[in-house]
Amino acid sequence: MTFANTQATVYNDRVVRQFAIMTVVWGVVGMLVGVLIAAQLAWPDLTHGIPWLSYGRLRPLHTNAVIFAFGGCALIGTSFYVVQRTCQVRLFSDKMAAFVFWGWQLVIVAAAISLPLGFTTSKEYAELEWPIDLLITAVWVVYAIVFFGTVGTRRVRHIYVANWFYGAFILAIAMLHIVNNAELPVGPMKSYSAYAGVQDAMVQWWYGHNAVGFLLTAGFLGMMYYFIPKQAERPVYSYRLSIVHFWALIFTYMWAGPHHLHYTALPDWAQSVGMVFSLILLAPSWGGMINGIMTLSGAWHKLRDDPILRFLIVSLSFYGMSTFEGPMMSVKTVNALSHYTDWTIGHVHSGALGWVGLITIGSMYYLIPRLFGRKEMYSVKAIEVHFWVATIGIVIYIAAMWIAGVMQGLMWRAVNADGTLTYTFVESVKATYPFYVLRLIGGVLYLSGMVVMLWNTVKTMTAGRVVPVQIPAMAAHA
Ligand code: HEM
Ligand code: HEM
Repeated sequence: MTFANTQATVYNDRVVRQFAIMTVVWGVVGMLVGVLIAAQLAWPDLTHGIPWLSYGRLRPLHTNAVIFAFGGCALIGTSFYVVQRTCQVRLFSDKMAAFVFWGWQLVIVAAAISLPLGFTTSKEYAELEWPIDLLITAVWVVYAIVFFGTVGTRRVRHIYVANWFYGAFILAIAMLHIVNNAELPVGPMKSYSAYAGVQDAMVQWWYGHNAVGFLLTAGFLGMMYYFIPKQAERPVYSYRLSIVHFWALIFTYMWAGPHHLHYTALPDWAQSVGMVFSLILLAPSWGGMINGIMTLSGAWHKLRDDPILRFLIVSLSFYGMSTFEGPMMSVKTVNALSHYTDWTIGHVHSGALGWVGLITIGSMYYLIPRLFGRKEMYSVKAIEVHFWVATIGIVIYIAAMWIAGVMQGLMWRAVNADGTLTYTFVESVKATYPFYVLRLIGGVLYLSGMVVMLWNTVKTMTAGRVVPVQIPAMAAHA
């Protein structure tokens, strides 16, 4: 291909590099905390009662670190990379992009300090107190301006589907964050929610479920629609399906939140709405998964010797698994067994470690060498090792939690002929102990894969050389 009028402008990859490095770093940190709390569940006295190392404070630190630091950096970084390539234009503003990076890191550091100190709103996944909420809002607005500003100044007419998914993620998270965090400050690090009682619960799980739908799902689907075709060197299996997938998914997710509140004070009809929409959600979820996996049609052999592609495709298998399991768990009678048990934790981590983790890791292995001007990662063998260690770790983790969860549910509901409970609660805790140890082993394996990735990243960076990429002005496909 020849390009007339090649311009000297280059993409802004500096900010993408920064986000990529921090994705790996926060991945290691967040999962290390995950391993620590997994060990605490097996050995509750592990941290000798030190308040800031207590389970109740470290658990939200883990969830915030893996979702918003690891996941957040991966999403913002890849969205900046993808939007420039698919719109063939430099980011809307370098200064604003730098603000997004440093602002987001400040949010993460503020979370890492305030959560262990015990400052919390007590809303799951929205624990951060009001000054940090304000900072998040400022960073997010600037992020939206950079992203949509870039789309607005694009040199190609068509807006590639990955940008639709990233765009939905940015808009939905802005709306969820503002509505769920409406709160009245009563001190520098203390506030009360604007909602009370069952309304508070409903707003919280409208937020919580859509954080899953738009952050842990839609954003990463944006990643899938760019990096799988790139790594497989094939076009998306069906572009038409990707558009149907987008609209069906974002419409359906919004209504499914009440499945977190089955058998509560929430009106029964609202619970049923949540259940029905969750069941419908299976269709767009699997449509997307099939579209991703089938992108490989005619190139299946590449899976044999390309570990990066294996990360990306196996992530989709876990996506398919957790989006089959989720609708099943939203059926009220199934939820009566699964709720409050470790089955939920198994479901969460088949999505989190399997889908979110593996798609991110695969995309980073694609990106990092390109960002540092290298042909490939320093060690391809290490990617291979990472893949197997991570996959075995996930299987051990989720299998242990499924068995433990179903066992707990059955033990709690077992009754004797005279109507008394067959088991005391503590008997179920005792029976769970071996599975907590197993989960810890699975977690340690997954974490060690991330440590290998960090080593490989540092080696790639230090041996790398940055080559500026030129934007071909006439490269727009009609
Ligand atoms: C080495 C890897 C990891 C380990 C060992 C680990 C361990 C844990 C543990 C022990 C809990 C608390 C479970 C409980 O309260 O019973 C937890 C909760 C959670 N983790 Fe992880 N985790 C890991 C990675 C991740 C990743 C990568 C994500 C997301 C991308 C994630 C998302 C979550 C979420 C959302 C919860 C809360 C679940 C709920 O409230 O139902 N974890 N994790
Ligand atoms: C069709 C898609 C899905 C549906 C219908 C669904 C449904 C459910 C249901 C019914 C629960 C249990 C609620 C409870 O008993 O408290 C749940 C919990 C959860 N799911 Fe899913 N799920 C889906 C996909 C996913 C994916 C892909 C992920 C992660 C990447 C995920 C992350 C979570 C988390 C973090 C929780 C725990 C929330 C909490 O209690 O803290 N889900 N989901």
